Amino acid sequence: MPIVNGDAMSGAAHITNGKLEDYTRALEILDAEYPERDGVDVRTLLDSKTRGGLTYNDFLVLPGYIGFAASEVNLDTPVTKRISLKTPFLSSPMDTVTEHSMAIHMALLGGLGVIHHNCSVEDQAEMVRKVKRFENGFILDPIVISPSTTVGEAKQLKETWGFGGFPVTENGTLRSKLIGIVTARDIQFHADLSDPVSVVMSTDLVTGQAGISLLEANDILRKSKKGKLPIVDGNGNLVSLVSRSDLMKNLNYPLASKLPHSKQLIAAAAIGTRPDDKIRLQKLVDAGLDIVVLDSSQGNSMYQVEMIKYVKETHPALDVIGGNVVTKAQAATLIAAGVDGLRIGMGSGSACITQEVMAVGRPQAASVFNVSSFAARFGVPCIADGGIQNVGHIVKGLALGASTVMMGGLLAGTSESPGQYFVNREGKLVKAYRGMGSIDAMEDKKAGGSKDAKAAKASNAGTARYFSEGDRLLVAQGVSGSVADRGSITKFVPYLAAGVQHSLQDIGVQSVKELREKVLDGEVRFELRTVSAQAEGNVHGMETFDKKLYS
Ligand code: IMP
Repeated sequence: MPIVNGDAMSGAAHITNGKLEDYTRALEILDAEYPERDGVDVRTLLDSKTRGGLTYNDFLVLPGYIGFAASEVNLDTPVTKRISLKTPFLSSPMDTVTEHSMAIHMALLGGLGVIHHNCSVEDQAEMVRKVKRFENGFILDPIVISPSTTVGEAKQLKETWGFGGFPVTENGTLRSKLIGIVTARDIQFHADLSDPVSVVMSTDLVTGQAGISLLEANDILRKSKKGKLPIVDGNGNLVSLVSRSDLMKNLNYPLASKLPHSKQLIAAAAIGTRPDDKIRLQKLVDAGLDIVVLDSSQGNSMYQVEMIKYVKETHPALDVIGGNVVTKAQAATLIAAGVDGLRIGMGSGSACITQEVMAVGRPQAASVFNVSSFAARFGVPCIADGGIQNVGHIVKGLALGASTVMMGGLLAGTSESPGQYFVNREGKLVKAYRGMGSIDAMEDKKAGGSKDAKAAKASNAGTARYFSEGDRLLVAQGVSGSVADRGSITKFVPYLAAGVQHSLQDIGVQSVKELREKVLDGEVRFELRTVSAQAEGNVHGMETFDKKLYS
């Protein structure tokens, strides 16, 4: 029976029977007598010779000391040797995940969207151009009509697009002379639908000059009490439009991914490693590309080495990310060839059946740790690509040495991903999501211009990730299906960022950089998770529950 006498004056506990020690010495005793802290260091945890390959759910990070607010945790992190981001998130180059809308919004939120290449060169280059041209609040591709457009047609456009207020230019296109604007009010009660809009349009125009800031545009709009502000160049040609209703919705994006001294968002896009991809690359560079991702499920190949060298020689200002790799040996080849970043993962993607079909791959935690600890010696940042299902997985990827994480399935259900929502058989709102190695994606006529699989194979750049030139038969490495609606990434990505900040606070590190350092020097500790520990760590014993992740 322990006998303890509290001492109200000193606050210390007296010890009798030699059972308890003075509690004020707890930290001192910990340091002196327990140099080995609880849990294991990362090398012991990931020792695949004794443990086999682990993945994210197989372990936990042990908590540390909280000495700062979660909002003070800094998420700055490099994505290539030369380029850093303010949040460690990338969206996958998949045709159900990243086109220009996703790329623009990921960049606005401090991450990066890698535009997929399962499309024509022209379409991909146009998407890159849209990212580079994007200016928050300025509509760069407004609906423009010509003076001969009829009132009926203008009414129809209003129906289709859900808004009125169309600028009228001499030849009905952007970059042509602005001559008027047709508002909803101008056409609402005009009876003769066959009249040209030139009869009803307003010509007392208030315009902004190209180059003005959003703040200035906002000011003009407020003073003029107009709904739309056409922006014109020195010759009076229409270059963009600012809309009052959009201004209300405009958020401030202090984390936006931009290169130093540039007002433009960073643009990244994927290509394959075939001879044709060199032409594709040139068009993307002409459109303003900053980072190219060489998209291959097994990146350790002569094709990729050749392409890395080609990119470095012909486009020295462009950063090149190689991959995918999962072993040190694979990484070494690409590092030696000159990559600026590496993408890690084989078979861990949510729509992926590579490991099942090819018997090749590696559990993701083992891949991330082995590759990124090796790559760190050469200053090459790594992306943990695939298998991210929640905030915890992101933190584990970063703890194991990745600088950023790449997500496909987790972002495919957001409003910024390509495609429309639909209601599935269970009545749930979903969006399509498919592996780029699924038969559907490989045969997609969008890229090849033909439904015929063979023709598609010959011309479809996107599928180059999963088959080689001589293949007679497409062997699937992915599936196609759908994922649940996740709303807009303008809410979802800030949730992920705040979640990572809170997690790092629990671990007791104030930045992604400090996390990596303290993991490597053994201060951040880990614990293996048995199957029953995993069950314990999830909701259990509840009859029903609602899993709402943020509000
Ligand atoms: P997720 O975030 O778990 O959905 O994984 C996305 C990642 O899966 C992508 O970034 C690719 O690396 C990988 N991936 C995409 N399509 C396929 C496929 O068809 N087979 C295998 N892996 C794929």
